[in-house]
Amino acid sequence: MEDTTKLNTSKLGTKQYWDDFYALERQNFRENPEDTGECWFDDSNGEMKMVEFLSDNIGQHSIKQDSSVLDMGTGNGHLLFELIENDFTGKMYGVDYSQESVTFAQEIAKEKGLDDGIVFSQADIFDTAWNPGEFDIVLDKGTLDAVALSGFKVDGDRPITEVYNKVIEKLLKKGGVFLITSCNFTQDELIKIIENDKLKFWHSIHYPVLEFGGVKGSTICSVAFIKE
Ligand SMILES: C[S@@+](CC[C@H](N)C(=O)[O-])C[C@H]1O[C@@H](n2cnc3c(N)ncnc32)[C@H](O)[C@@H]1O
Repeated sequence: MEDTTKLNTSKLGTKQYWDDFYALERQNFRENPEDTGECWFDDSNGEMKMVEFLSDNIGQHSIKQDSSVLDMGTGNGHLLFELIENDFTGKMYGVDYSQESVTFAQEIAKEKGLDDGIVFSQADIFDTAWNPGEFDIVLDKGTLDAVALSGFKVDGDRPITEVYNKVIEKLLKKGGVFLITSCNFTQDELIKIIENDKLKFWHSIHYPVLEFGGVKGSTICSVAFIKE
């Protein structure tokens, strides 16, 4: 198995990259309010697969129509808007460390008339002083991928992948569900990073398997965990 702590770093990992990225997306949105920006993993239908998974599993563990939901590294907030449009009625929170992303998501919420239903706020998910409470459902779509590329170390020497499950544990209620979609990590790698004495693998979402040069693999994977 790949050593997940030794991924190459890239500009996708820097906060400056995301500030610039969302500043440009805001500008595009101002010029054309229908352009709500990049939807990560759209080509694999990742967002809809996550929403469908939650809809199909209402009644399981903490998944209810009115579950509280936190989206970590929310970007343009699209995943939360999609949940609301698919009849999820609970409190929705989107956090991102890029203030440009937060402002962008707030602007889209206003345009959609959803600004009462969702709170977007700026926070670094690895900031130990950040304590937003516990949620029924916590989501990550592409955020661990971006974070892993930052090369950032917690306390100077601990790789992000080593502390990531502690962040999830802090944010989930007992019985809560964590659902992550990634293109950098395989299902086995995610299980290795996330499982601990409280967080247990529950389900994965099926994606079509691509075959190239005799090697089989999905482009992305989505994996759900339960906090016991
Ligand atoms: C690949 S984008 C995905 C955005 C969104 N989840 C989506 O699916 O469109 C990664 C996001 O994670 C955010 N991010 C990266 N590191 C973060 C951190 N430490 N705390 C909070 N957000 C972070 C970036 O600003 C960016 O919005």
